[in-house]
Amino acid sequence: MAHRWTNDLTHADITPKSVFLNRRQIMAGLAGLGLAGLAAPAKAKVELVPSDWEVITQYNNFYEFGTDKSDPAKHAHMLSTSPWTITIDGMVDRPGDYNVADIMSKMTIEERIYRFRCVEAWSMVVPWNGFELKDLLDLVGVQADAKYVAMETLFRPEEMPGQKYQTIKWPYVEGLRLDEAMHPLTIMASGIYGKTIPNQNGAPLRLVVPWKYGFKSIKSVVRITLTDQEPTTSWNTANAREYKFYSNVNPSVDHPRWSQSSERPIGGGLFTKRKPTLMFNGYEKEVASLYEGMDLRKNF
Ligand code: MTE
Repeated sequence: MAHRWTNDLTHADITPKSVFLNRRQIMAGLAGLGLAGLAAPAKAKVELVPSDWEVITQYNNFYEFGTDKSDPAKHAHMLSTSPWTITIDGMVDRPGDYNVADIMSKMTIEERIYRFRCVEAWSMVVPWNGFELKDLLDLVGVQADAKYVAMETLFRPEEMPGQKYQTIKWPYVEGLRLDEAMHPLTIMASGIYGKTIPNQNGAPLRLVVPWKYGFKSIKSVVRITLTDQEPTTSWNTANAREYKFYSNVNPSVDHPRWSQSSERPIGGGLFTKRKPTLMFNGYEKEVASLYEGMDLRKNF
């Protein structure tokens, strides 16, 4: 399948899933033979090792199901995701209610192995399956005056128990500038590890913007609106001093209450070392030009 965006790894660098899944067994086997060193070069070549399925699907932020990291995995089975309709409206040529299955049948699904960095300073590597948001926007026809894309999550308190509490203002809303939304790195994810995306990760479709803090990557989207006004965002509404519209990963601009210079990879156990956070989460080459001339200290 043609990849229009080239990773910092070439396709040959991505460990085939079967090899990846067997790597620990292979390593264990070689260690048993006293040959563990032989496995090292292969390991060093793989820069982005996806986090384990259990980590990605059991350590979540999805406040609609509760604020504890384990709440989404416990409660998200209550959400019914089929049928699912996404309303696409605002400054588009073909507004309407689009059935997710219909959308999916028109999209090219690719695997994208991305770093994922939460504003809380933890991180993972996720092998998403999804399509470029640009392709969906092209399908509905963005009008010339549109400057932003606003997105909204489902509001259904009977199935999302966290919505019975005003933890944040519901529904969860997010947004991107149009050029960010059209960037080839920006995807709508429908899967992880080649499997249907679990509810706790934002089924049936969630946004993924890998160079921004995780909260921009809104889950279980039901509305996409093209507009000429900067969209309201949930975390800005909750705390305007701490969360602004752009929320690009930036190790040199600290959160008012903690440093953003390093991060804690999830899933490596108690003794996992923090690692330095990369500018734009490692996607600087691809996205820095979007922000040329902008003061990133003010527009954080
Ligand atoms: N989307 C909705 N609707 N509700 C949320 O609470 N949390 C955000 C983001 N999208 C959130 C959301 C935050 S803070 C993060 S870090 C990521 O989802 C977490 O995604 P993950 O659980 O798949 O790792």
